[in-house]
Amino acid sequence: MAQEIKNVGVLGAGLMGHGIAQVFALAGHDVTIYDPVMAALDSAKTRIRANLADLGDDPAAVERVRPLADLAAAVRDADYVVEAVLEDLPLKQRVFAEIERHVRPAAILASNTSVIPITAIMEGLRDRSRALGTHWWNPPYLVPLVEVIGTQWTAQAAIDWTIALHQAAGKMPVHVRKDVPGFVGNRLQHALWREAIALVEHGICDAETVDTVIKASFGRRLAVLGPLENADLVGTDLTLAIHKTVLPDLERRGGPSPYLEALVAQGRLGFKSGAGFREWSGEQQAALRAKVLQHLKKARDA
Ligand SMILES: NC(=O)c1ccc[n+]([C@@H]2O[C@H](COP(=O)([O-])OP(=O)(O)OC[C@H]3O[C@@H](n4cnc5c(N)ncnc54)[C@H](O)[C@@H]3O)[C@@H](O)[C@H]2O)c1
Repeated sequence: MAQEIKNVGVLGAGLMGHGIAQVFALAGHDVTIYDPVMAALDSAKTRIRANLADLGDDPAAVERVRPLADLAAAVRDADYVVEAVLEDLPLKQRVFAEIERHVRPAAILASNTSVIPITAIMEGLRDRSRALGTHWWNPPYLVPLVEVIGTQWTAQAAIDWTIALHQAAGKMPVHVRKDVPGFVGNRLQHALWREAIALVEHGICDAETVDTVIKASFGRRLAVLGPLENADLVGTDLTLAIHKTVLPDLERRGGPSPYLEALVAQGRLGFKSGAGFREWSGEQQAALRAKVLQHLKKARDA
């Protein structure tokens, strides 16, 4: 296992990859970044430079990021490699097989998949003891959490090193003990989204109302009061009483909502088509993106 983690290799220079590279470079690591799409690779440093300027972070950090168009060269000297390529299992499996051919024996290998079990991504590797998941949130330089997911094969030392690496880089890593689809964060998030969609599907309220209810009520508290803290705060006995009445009525479909399937079939894809659950003009999209960014920046500085 790598004793000192100095060089970080990032595979994929998209939305997540460039942001993860930025965090490690700002923490003082030398970072290589690889992407087969030249436009993505070429824009990585420009995007990082703009982010650093926007956040008031050390502009010199970008000089520690080296974009490389050759995967072998990008991982050869890395102590730690994190993959942030498209969310596609066969692609990720191919990428890790390729990484394993070129990387140092002691390097730790991580996938930033959103929901794919790490076991499925890493099962074909020769050495699975150094492979794990690190699930970041977008944007990586503003959202603190990183879920660190081990498989049945992952060495405890690899998990410990990865947690220490992310802590030293200013992140808030948590250890997920079992490798389940969606890990912890996306399971919780999509349990809420399933019920949100069901409320609209069954005509209980419209999409705007769902979002207003959350943002103007428990959403206000969520950043400082998690659901299990909240359950203790109101009392587990009250929580039990509420669950006896409400849980039998909640959505429990084992797959996606037909309402969501219909939106996609109709080409109502959200921002990218101008309409999804709601209609979105260009100005409304820009305003919402700016509002989220502003909120996250304020939370970081708080
Ligand atoms: N976007 C999010 O909010 C978010 C959050 C957490 C995790 N993730 C996960 O992070 C990963 C990347 O997501 P993203 O949003 O950055 O996607 P993205 O589309 O912005 O970037 C993916 C990049 O991978 C590159 N790529 C394609 N094939 C490659 C290969 N063989 N080797 C190296 N790079 C290759 C693409 O050219 C692209 O630049 C996905 O697994 C995604 O599920 C995304």
